[in-house]
Amino acid sequence: MDIGEGDRVYVSDLTFAASVQPILYVGAEPVFIDSEPESWNMSPAALERALEQDKRAGRLPKAVIVVHLYGQSANMNALLKLTEAYGVPVIEDAAESLGANYGNRPSGAHGLMSVYSFNGNKIITTSGGGALVSDRPDLVERARKLATQGRDNAEHYQHSDLSYNYRMSNVLAGIGRGQLEVLSDRVAARRAIFERYVDGLSKIPGVGFQMEVEGSIGNRWLTVISLDPDEIALHPYQLMRSLKARGIETRPAWKPMQMQPLFSDIQFEPHMPDRAVSPGLFLTSLCLPSGSAMSVSEQEGVIEAVTDILASGGQS
Ligand SMILES: Cc1ncc(COP(=O)(O)O)c(C=O)c1O
Repeated sequence: MDIGEGDRVYVSDLTFAASVQPILYVGAEPVFIDSEPESWNMSPAALERALEQDKRAGRLPKAVIVVHLYGQSANMNALLKLTEAYGVPVIEDAAESLGANYGNRPSGAHGLMSVYSFNGNKIITTSGGGALVSDRPDLVERARKLATQGRDNAEHYQHSDLSYNYRMSNVLAGIGRGQLEVLSDRVAARRAIFERYVDGLSKIPGVGFQMEVEGSIGNRWLTVISLDPDEIALHPYQLMRSLKARGIETRPAWKPMQMQPLFSDIQFEPHMPDRAVSPGLFLTSLCLPSGSAMSVSEQEGVIEAVTDILASGGQS
């Protein structure tokens, strides 16, 4: 895509650092785009404002990296309408959303290119590694070359481009292909886990969940709850520690990129001019155990423990 020194690339603010680091590897400048409150994914309002401002300044980004957080699709119709109007390509970071759908097409089938992750914690895993997909053969060919030490098409070892060793071994690829056969079962299992959490916890005043945007079916890779501080006095970390004391492991929500020491001087475009959403999501949310193999009784134990701890204000 020919992105390099001096180019701007927009990226979702509420994500894992891996969405941002490659922008810096190529010497480009990231701009963090806030979340919308419903889907927790990239805010079309923030994207529109950033594009308008940058068009006026004559510095439109070379790409927009849209993340599908926790396996739920971003609001792609609204986002793509904007990127198409401004002529900026979209790269989907579908690392967490393999098996999800948006508008009857797989998550990751809407941008110019997309990436999936098969890291150890993902819905299917090869222990490490991932895949890049695109329907542009030239981009796929270029990526394949850069990922395999940049060998030119010659009989001897010949190299014209600086490149990398990012390829996946055939053994790991085989392990991944085997799991593709059970991907839809895993999505069904994670969605059932999500539904049970909603049934068990949504009656507690102040407990909220990440919404699915219209026309999408998430893979519910992680179920994440939010605790409204106006209703629940407990900080998510207090809940996390109380659950740990009962042998239940939970994790903090992703810390927004603009709050990371590594990225502290990078531009951030908030959802509304006077309202940022992603820091609030970070400070009020907690990732619950969501593994595909979790049993109903294990999950009932988690629901009971969360209910109990919240009812006692963290005293139990
Ligand atoms: C949103 C997101 N992007 C990128 C990555 C990086 O994927 P990998 O670990 O396969 O490099 C991850 C997770 O690991 C992720 O959650």
